[in-house]
This record gives sequence, structure tokens and C-alpha cells, in this order.
Amino acid sequence: MTRLNLRKNQQCYFFSLLFFTGVMISAFPVFSQANVIIPIESKNNAIVLKTDADGRPGIIYFGKKISNVSEYQLIPKSFRRGDDYSGILNSAYTPAGSRNLVEPAIQIAHTDGNLSLDLVYVVHSTEKTDDNVSITKVILKDSKYAVEVTLYYKVYANEDVIEQWSEIKNKETGNIRMQKYASANLYLTAENYYLRHFHGDWAKEMIPEETRLTSGIKVLDSKLGTRANLYQPPTFMVSLDKTASENEGKVLLGSLEWSGNFKIDLEVDPLNNLRVIAGINPFASEYTLKPSESFVTPAFLYTYSENGKGEASRNLHNWARKYRILDGNGSRLTLLNNWEATYFDFTEAKLAELIKDTKKLGVDMFLLDDGWFGNKYPRNNDRAGLGDWQENVKKLPSGIGYLVKEAKNNEVKFGIWVEPEMVSPKSELYEKHPDWVIKQPGRSEHLYRNQLVLDLSNPEVQNFVYGVLDNILVKNPEVAFFKWDCNAVIYNAYSGYLQNQSHFYVEYVKGLYKVLEKLRAKYPKLPMMLCSGGGGRVDYGALKYFSEFWLSDNTDPLERVFIQWEYSYFYPAIAHCNHVTDWGKQPIKFRTDVAMMGKLGFDIVVSHLNEKDLKFCQEAVVTYKSISDVVWHGDMFRLADPRENDFASLMYVNEAKSRAVMFNYLVESRYGDGTLSPIKLGGLDPKKKYQVKEINLYPESRSRWTNPQSFSGEYLMKIGVNPDVNTRRTSVILEITEEK
Ligand code: DGJ
Repeated sequence: MTRLNLRKNQQCYFFSLLFFTGVMISAFPVFSQANVIIPIESKNNAIVLKTDADGRPGIIYFGKKISNVSEYQLIPKSFRRGDDYSGILNSAYTPAGSRNLVEPAIQIAHTDGNLSLDLVYVVHSTEKTDDNVSITKVILKDSKYAVEVTLYYKVYANEDVIEQWSEIKNKETGNIRMQKYASANLYLTAENYYLRHFHGDWAKEMIPEETRLTSGIKVLDSKLGTRANLYQPPTFMVSLDKTASENEGKVLLGSLEWSGNFKIDLEVDPLNNLRVIAGINPFASEYTLKPSESFVTPAFLYTYSENGKGEASRNLHNWARKYRILDGNGSRLTLLNNWEATYFDFTEAKLAELIKDTKKLGVDMFLLDDGWFGNKYPRNNDRAGLGDWQENVKKLPSGIGYLVKEAKNNEVKFGIWVEPEMVSPKSELYEKHPDWVIKQPGRSEHLYRNQLVLDLSNPEVQNFVYGVLDNILVKNPEVAFFKWDCNAVIYNAYSGYLQNQSHFYVEYVKGLYKVLEKLRAKYPKLPMMLCSGGGGRVDYGALKYFSEFWLSDNTDPLERVFIQWEYSYFYPAIAHCNHVTDWGKQPIKFRTDVAMMGKLGFDIVVSHLNEKDLKFCQEAVVTYKSISDVVWHGDMFRLADPRENDFASLMYVNEAKSRAVMFNYLVESRYGDGTLSPIKLGGLDPKKKYQVKEINLYPESRSRWTNPQSFSGEYLMKIGVNPDVNTRRTSVILEITEEK
């Protein structure tokens, strides 16, 4: 195609966009492919794309926005870093097989077997969805092959958040095979790059590591299929120039919205720029597109701040509450869960007692966990029964309906645990539908927690999984909550349903999302907890369908201070399910205070509490209800990092800056440990007067904070207060209220 023809097409495309979309769009007429500048701006930041002389789009800027758009193109001239031998090191979406020399974002085998791709700009447009949200689309095409790629940048201006994804269209006459198909390709420029990423295992979620990125590629990835984040999550942060602190420094927080295998390449290139490529993991996942088919990648989510990690977190929290988490601005049900109180060992009578305890404690709901189902193979331990979702007649002779009624009689709600994606080899489901199970034909099965995963790429299985929840709700419409668990990884990945095995990992996740979409269509508001043997599946792809998530089975409160801290970088407190359990050695007050920094639950035997502990818990529930609005909807400020101090401190402030709650915990136990000096608060109004007082005290205890003390907001933020955390006062909650 000559350049002239291309220009004609572009003009044509531009006008047809305006004509047919019928929406207000601002599309730029493109008369030349060269030097097209595409600024993608949020309230404070900008990513700027510019086409080179041949129309290849590169990123010329990522950082704070400036008012004069034409000045963006001056920026790259100030960086003298050496030669880019390919000319596309800064590509906005690096195609493999043509001039590229580094990690690609997209790699394709064409119908004729050719492996090259060279993407040039066609047109772009920006559509405003409302005052805050806009989507910029940049259409690219291969200059030789009929492959089209559209880059999408969805900007949430006030939150400084971008969701970026791509769509790949096969316009060839035969199949194309996508060997890599990332969601986003960023290009950052700084002197140094510091990556904070996370790793872990069961009960060890979100262990951070911070490292300087050096030349070459650091890869964060998962190949686990389900429970994909068991070893590491798709969330990370990169500080530019130097490591960012809470209130200072340049930092990018990123996460892939995908509940399956992911791959994030962080490549410091030969010119010392950082290339970030994030998307579905191409491992064992070559994806074929038939003629006219297209593939939309999941979104890569990111926010950028030049005021440190605190602001970046608040950006993500605001975005998540407003735009992502189910009922993000709503309320949550406090609960009593029976998992650690009974494990699999319960009867109807025992549960009826626990329902009474729920009422006694003052929480909103009783949550029945694992072990209530299976008859031929009763679920009396984790070796049988998964898949057979009928009440066990011995344990629950009167069925779920009876428990729902008991809950109602006690004026509490009833929630229930399911793990619908899984199957025990010892189950009727397995006997009836061995073809629904993921396993390699002719190879021995390998189990994880004695179970296997169902093949969610199969529509029949999707219907079954949907039916697990739907049947419960049809029979018991007053079931108020689900805990959706997912305890196994995928071994021996093979689908008896799919023709093309390399589509398996992708189709599994798509199948899961189809089920969740269908559920949400019928039950749009029902709260659900996203659980995966702890935090094995915490991502913003899944959280669209869930109101909250289970962070970890590790509920030792000391451990939780650290685990909750790291999750807080990315996820708001309203989504954190924190339960008071018998893990750890800390007193009940410490355990409860820690669980209050999110959605409070209990998983203890209430009848085993002594009188004072019970009184404390009951009062704590009342206190929690009085502060939960601030914790759930307020801005969070991390004040003292438990990894840098012998204590941790963080606070939440409401939007009006009239109420705040400060949580403080001792995390070491040596002589003299504790808060020796004041801790500066954040987010208050310096001009307002506030009263500070201690809340949630253990019965009969007092402190110098029992009586409210008065301070200016300025004092609290410049000087601070000392909550007097020490080995005798290991956790302290202060309430800060505006004086009227
Ligand atoms: C793993 C979850 O993380 C636990 O909370 C509990 O629900 C068990 N599964 C039940 O098997």
C-alpha cells in the first residue's frame, strides 16, 4: 500500500467514525502518519505517544502532565542515551519479527507461516464516557499483513488511573497464531528503577522484596492456572530514580486484571529505559485466531504518583471502590465463621448453637464453611465430596433451609461456603463426569489438597458451576452471602472438551468469568468473598464480581499486620476480610484491633471466651460499627511501616476530614520496644480542631487517651501524637473527631 492510499483510508476511517458512532468523540484527522502526537492525560499525569517518520508509534513521555501539549515532543531531546539500533525501543506495543531486538509485546505467526509483524499507526480517537472517564483508541496495522491491533487506554482522570488493553484482529484469509499478546507495553525513563514485588505460599501471602532493576529482564509470572497467585501476584510497584517513600518519590503501581497465568516483563533496555510488558502468560498458550476473529486482552491497571506510595495507593483505592469492587461504596456484613471453630466436625445442633453465638456476639451473619455436603462420599475431611453439592443428610438432616430459618429467628443473616470449580476423585461427580475433569489422558493424576480442577472451558461445566450457587439460592432465596473458594492449582493441563489444547489456560479463565457474569446478571448485589486457600486469587479481574477477598489463611494477628499492610498498597480496606481467630499468641484485643482494619469477622468458639473477653468482643463489634464507615470509605494513610519500626501505625480519614481512626500495633517484643516519639498523622484539615481519644479499650482498662484531648489538625500532622504503644499496650486505636 502506498503512503497516499493509506492517507486516503485514514481520512475515510476518521469520518466514518464520527458518522457511525453517534457519540461525542474527538478524533484527530490524520493527513500524515509521521509525527502524530497522542497525549493520554489524567488529572496529573500523561503518557504521550508519537509516531516516527514511518508511522510507528513510540512512547515519548510518561510522567507529570504539562499544559502545552506541543511541548511533549521536546522532552526526548533532553535525554542523550546512545543509539537505538531498532528505532522502536520505545514502541507503544512492540511487534516481534521485524526490526525489534528486545522483548516483544506481540508475536504472531501469519497464515503463510511468516513470523514478522510491523505495526504502523492508522488513526486514533478519544471518547468521553462521562466527566471523569475517557477511552483513547489507537488503531495500528501491519504494513504487509492484514492484522490490526487496537490499543485502548481507559483513563479515570481524577483517580490518575489507567486501564490499558489491546485488541488483535485477524483480517487475513486463514488462521493466525498469536504467540504473545500482551495487554500493555509501557516505557519509563529514569536514572534507576526499584521494583517492589511479592511472593509467598499458603499462609505466607504478599512477602515483599525490593530490588534495583539492572540491565536485562526481570519476569513476574504464574503458570499455575487456577489459584494463580499462590507463588506471586500480578501486582507490583516500580519507583523511579530512588525508592519512593509514603509521601515522596515517583512510583508506578501496576496489576494485571486476570485470574490466570500472567507474565510481566520488566526490562531495563540498553538505553537504561524501563520497558514494562504485562499480559496473559504466553506459556503453553499460543492462541489461534480464525479469519475475522479478534482477541481482546485483559486490562493492565496502573496508577502513577510523584508524591509517593501513599497517594498512589489512595488513587487505586478510590478507583476500586468507585469502579471495580462489587458494591465498593456500600457496606459489609460482619460475621461469625465456623471454619476454625469446627472444621469439618459439626452437626445441625452445633450449628444452631453457633448461630445463637452469632447473635450474642452482635455480628450480622453466620457463615457456614466447608463440610456441609456430600452423601455417598461425605465431606468429613478434605479427601472426599467436592462436587457433590447436596446437603449431607447426617450432618444437616433438615437442610440449609433450616439453618437459614434459625439465622432469621436469631435476627442474623446466613452465608455459605462453596468451592464449585473443584472435584474430589472420591465424589459422585467424578464418577459421573470424568470427562469434566482436567487431567492428561493416559497419565497418572496428581492431586493438590486431594482434589482436581473442573474444566471450565467446557460450557457444560460452566452451567454446572453456575448451578451450584444458583440451586442454593433458588431453594434458599434468603442465603445472604457466599464464600467462593478455590484450593487447587492445575497439574496435567488438558481439556477433554477443547480441540486446541494451547487455548486451555485462557479459556479456563474466560469460562470462569462467563459463570460469574451469569451469576451477576441474576444476582447483581449478592455479596461474595473471593477466597483461594487464602489469597491465592486476588486480582482486579475477579474483584469485579466480588465484594471482598480473603487475604490469607494465616490469621496470626502479628503476621496479619504485615500481610494486610502489603495488600493495602493495592486494595482498599473495605475489600479486606479479616477474622479474629485463635492463631497467634496475642490477646483478644490485639487480634480484634487488627481485624478491624478491614471487614471484621470472627472465627472463634464464642462459648470458650471468658466473661471479660466476651464483653470486650461484644463492645468491639459495637465500636467497629461506629467507625466502619471511616475504615471502608475513608482515605488511608500508612504512618509507620512495621518493617522499619518495632510498631505499625496507619489511619483512615473520612472525605469531610471530620473523623479519622488511627490503628497502632507493637510488632516486636524486646524490652523498651514501642512508640517513643509522636507519630505524624495524615489527611486531616490543618485548620480544624480535633479531639483525640482511645477507643476499643479492654474492659476496666484506662490510658492517658481515655479522656479526649484537643489538638489542631496542623499539630496532629506536623508534630503528631504518641499512642503509647509498648509491651503492656500492644495495640491502640485512637479516634480523631472534629470539634464542633
Ligand atoms: C481454604 C480457605 O482459605 C479457608 O478459609 C477455608 O474455607 C478452607 N479452605 C475450607 O476448606
